[in-house]
Amino acid sequence: MSEQSMANVPGADAQWWQSAVVYQVYPRSFSDLSGDGVGDLEGLIDKLGYLELLGVDAIWMSPITRSPMADHGYDVSDPRAIDPLFGDLETFDELIRQAHDRDIRVTMDLVPNHTSDQHPWFSAALGTAPGSSERERYIFADGRGDNGEEPPNNWTSVFGGPAWTRITEADGEPGQWYLHLFAPQQPDLNWENPEILADLETTMRFWLDRGLDGFRIDVSHGMAKPAGLPDLEHPAEVLRHTDDDPRFNRDGVHEIHRAIRRVMDEYPGTFNVGEVWVSSPEAFAKYVRPDELHLGFNFQLATATFDADEIRAAVDSSLQATASVGATPTWTLSNHDVSREVTRYTPTGAEAEGLSSERLLAIGTNRARAMIMFELALPGTVFIYNGAELGLPDVDLPDEALVDPVWENSGHTDRGRDGCRVPLPWEGAEPPFGFTTSDAPWLPLPAEWAALTVEAQLEDIYSTLSLYRQAIELRYARLEFSGDTVEWYGAPDGCLAFRRAGGLICALNASPFPVPLPPGQILLVSTPLEAGLLVPGATAWLI
Ligand code: NOJ
Repeated sequence: MSEQSMANVPGADAQWWQSAVVYQVYPRSFSDLSGDGVGDLEGLIDKLGYLELLGVDAIWMSPITRSPMADHGYDVSDPRAIDPLFGDLETFDELIRQAHDRDIRVTMDLVPNHTSDQHPWFSAALGTAPGSSERERYIFADGRGDNGEEPPNNWTSVFGGPAWTRITEADGEPGQWYLHLFAPQQPDLNWENPEILADLETTMRFWLDRGLDGFRIDVSHGMAKPAGLPDLEHPAEVLRHTDDDPRFNRDGVHEIHRAIRRVMDEYPGTFNVGEVWVSSPEAFAKYVRPDELHLGFNFQLATATFDADEIRAAVDSSLQATASVGATPTWTLSNHDVSREVTRYTPTGAEAEGLSSERLLAIGTNRARAMIMFELALPGTVFIYNGAELGLPDVDLPDEALVDPVWENSGHTDRGRDGCRVPLPWEGAEPPFGFTTSDAPWLPLPAEWAALTVEAQLEDIYSTLSLYRQAIELRYARLEFSGDTVEWYGAPDGCLAFRRAGGLICALNASPFPVPLPPGQILLVSTPLEAGLLVPGATAWLI
């Protein structure tokens, strides 16, 4: 039996996630069967055959739980119900059943740092007096200034503006303030209160008992807040993702992860991956100690430019961090919060001078193809964001189409993340390319995507989709991909080459010149060789 087909034999491989390919479904944008312009669970079930063809082991769904959608699901008003926009519990159970039948495991977001302001707990907190047990579930504080008119400290929200909002008390007077590290509709929970963990445990068991295979834990570096909520000593932009930001990455968070892990350990074969935005590898490693998260999202390749030194440094520091605690490395090029890799790798500035927009996009696409092969050659778990396998770029949406709260909350200075969340093009020659039967998808698909639809790419052996399929298949089928180590080879300037213990050689040309390949038999190249040379922006696998 191949490693892949063993995946869902209960108990056969409880550590399956250590070398898995996990596909992130952004449910709003994946496939809409109800025809309301927003993706749903029926749509996802309908496309499971596609995911099986792609060859992924598991999916991670961004939130599908009940939410007023102020942050498109990351504002949860009932963590143990499916939002009607996406379906219901019955559809969820059907998804699990059909996905498991196809050997695809299913994981989804868990959002422990905050709830929606429409969560019954928050309404109860607003309806009671300061100091009540209902208020103790969140972080309420009196304001500064003579009349409490100043926020309790100078923290800013990640989405722009202050991290505090003042409420009106039951008597109609301006009252206390509550903390929200994200939108005002996302009040932070008070993790000092044991009720919060108890409720999260109930939520975890609720889904795991229904057959869910794990969680992606939102803002895993959040939750714990420092005693006394001290002011930020530097501007938030300077502090963000550094270890000195008092809003994140406090020591207390690790005890929370240990408690979460104890529940997961009751369900062998499940795993958690945390969204861990911290800067130093040492800080990252703490989250993936044996009794904390199984995996941590490693954003180093999602933030590195297409530069050999940067890429190598990202790989080395990631491997060192995970090896220091015996954890599994993870790799990811993009997700629903960051720019898509095709766009990130598209030349700008001096490098772009004199090149047409078509040529620039082709360069970005080739580099993205090279990087997925580079990633899939590394040991560990690979996360793919839906649409990356089609080579989708970000979409430059008009102002009136923007719906990310970041756009509003930043006073229209930050365009937010909608550009990387545009729905997937499935088939046909015109928008919305089979994503929905509605003529108003929640974000508009551009006409230029006609050549990028699944239908257009499936039968084309040179398409990005075909490259993904071949690469994922080889990664499973070939023993040369075994071993935990990455041994760097000498390579021409601006290039990288490494060897896996099993014998695979991966060569990446990030230089502007064609280069010779290391000796060996070619398994796959991301862009055809020219005159026997690896072209700029290409990766080759050799054995
Ligand atoms: C991280 C999620 O990935 C992002 O989409 C969300 O806005 C924030 N956490 C707040 O939940």
